[in-house]
Amino acid sequence: GGGQCYFIPNQSLKPNECQDLKGVSHPLNSVWKTKDCEECTCGQDAISCCNTAAIPTGYDTNKCQKILNKKTCTYTVVEKKDPGKTCDVTGWVL
Ligand SMILES: *[C@@H]1O[C@H](CO)[C@@H](O)[C@H](O)[C@H]1NC(C)=O
Repeated sequence: GGGQCYFIPNQSLKPNECQDLKGVSHPLNSVWKTKDCEECTCGQDAISCCNTAAIPTGYDTNKCQKILNKKTCTYTVVEKKDPGKTCDVTGWVL
C-alpha cells in the first residue's frame, strides 16, 4: 500500500482555486479524476494527485510488461513478444 501520490504546486492567481498543469481551474477542496486513473484534490497550497489503479509488482519484468487500461483503471500484464498472452502476477500494490 502507501498510495502513489504526487503534488503540483498551486499555479492559480485567483483565491480559493487551483490550476492544474493543463491550465484547468478547480475549486478549493474539490476532487476530480484524470484520464490516467489518478484522483486529484485541490488543497490549500497544492494539488495532490494519487494513482487509483493497483500496480502489478510480482512478475517477470524481462519477459512481460504492464499495460494500463484507462477505461477500467486496471493493469494487465502481458508478454512483450506476444501481447496476447498474459503473465502470472504474484502481487499488486496501490
Ligand atoms: C493559489 O494561489 C493563489 C495566489 O497566491 C491564491 O490566491 C489561491 O487562494 C491559491 N489557491 C488555493 C486553493 O489555495
